Amino acid sequence: MKLFIQTLGCAMNERDSAHIIAELQHKKHYTLTDNAKEADLILINTCSVRQKPEQKLFSEIGQFAKEKKQGAKIGICGCTASHLGSEIIKKAPSVDFVLGARNVSKITEVIERPKAVEVDIDYDDSTYVFQSPQTMGIKAMLNISIGCDKQCSYCIVPFTRGKEISIPQDMLIKEARKLVANGIKELLLLGQNVNHYGVRFSHTHPKTNFTQLLREISKIEGLQRIRFTSPHPLHMDDEFLEEFACNPKISKSIHIPLQSGSTRILKMMARGYSKEWYLDRIAKLKSLVPDVGIGTDIIVGFPTESDQDFEDTMEVLSIVEFDTLYSFVYSPRPHTRAFEYDKSMLVDARVAKERLARLQNAHKQILTRKAQAEIGNLHSVLIENHKDSDGECWSEGRSDTNKLIRIIGEKAPIGSICQVRVVKNDGGSLFGEIIDSCDKEEK
Ligand code: 5AD
Ligand code: SF4
Repeated sequence: MKLFIQTLGCAMNERDSAHIIAELQHKKHYTLTDNAKEADLILINTCSVRQKPEQKLFSEIGQFAKEKKQGAKIGICGCTASHLGSEIIKKAPSVDFVLGARNVSKITEVIERPKAVEVDIDYDDSTYVFQSPQTMGIKAMLNISIGCDKQCSYCIVPFTRGKEISIPQDMLIKEARKLVANGIKELLLLGQNVNHYGVRFSHTHPKTNFTQLLREISKIEGLQRIRFTSPHPLHMDDEFLEEFACNPKISKSIHIPLQSGSTRILKMMARGYSKEWYLDRIAKLKSLVPDVGIGTDIIVGFPTESDQDFEDTMEVLSIVEFDTLYSFVYSPRPHTRAFEYDKSMLVDARVAKERLARLQNAHKQILTRKAQAEIGNLHSVLIENHKDSDGECWSEGRSDTNKLIRIIGEKAPIGSICQVRVVKNDGGSLFGEIIDSCDKEEK
């Protein structure tokens, strides 16, 4: 039996897809194919955070229905599945089942039930999330919580993924140990609000929090790096920032969603912090880790956003100088508070597009400047990939601050950490040379 799976959206969806694949491989002996035409099961793991991918879903279903081999099933999973539920089957009768983002562990069950719709957002999936893929490489993702307790006024996620539940700490440690014993060197901890970890469990649980979880996971021998996404700026207390700075296993790269630089807009978004709070946390972080890599998400054109509000966002961009930026034009989503706003509050689409372009251009300039300033810098690079064939020889990996660096002429072992000096910047792509001996791979 062959499985074709298409995954859209965030890291959480990628992790859910990995879980679905593993369940189907282990329990139903499916193998993966990247050709939908030969698949026995076609899955689309969807995202509903913005409107466009959701609109595209039905034309995609139509295409797959035309191409699929006779008897093959089509299943729709993820946030759009949770959002639209049985409407999907009504609108697209070629769909065999619908499986919500909170219900991924039921995959082997729903494939056997014609027209099944499993989208319960109260379903406690938190102890089933660990089914691991067979081939893992050196990196793995680990869900530490499911759902989201915030109610940001633009965001559909609390509606599609339900209330936040943390996964018991001892389960996480056990799973992390297992992954490391299987060769994993880097763990990416996932949650909608990772630093809200520990606030609610399904059963009684000793008091804990995200900082404590980080401390415990970092004790695992053989684990080299811990990353996480995403923390919420509101919960970035000093204890957390100090652990981030001082714990050598925690990667010095962090994604801190800003959403807007205007305190007025942040209030309307119900983010719970101000521009000043955000900048204060960044200042504290940079004072502890001067070369920290910082990423963010920004929405432009939120209802009523004025030129001045947007200038506040531009100001935060120029102060923080983000290393990565995911930026979006506001997209109204049903089941959110902002969806109820009067039409007159909406920002003109052309204005929003222009703001997005200005933001992205300013960010491009920041990146160009930062890449040039990298020349001569030293980094610990965890080797993820290498090649020594067809006349090409290189190794590639990421620095502690999450910069991708290619080392030409060296085939360093995958999973090793090398000290690398940046020697060239080619339009933002960094090249380096190994300055500290790391074992060359036996030929
Ligand atoms: N419109 C535009 N962007 C959105 N995001 C979430 N909801 C919306 C929306 N309605 C963005 C946020 C979030 C990221 C995953 O998607 O920036 O952090
Ligand atoms: Fe959405 Fe806000 Fe929850 Fe993030 S914190 S998933 S933006 S509601």
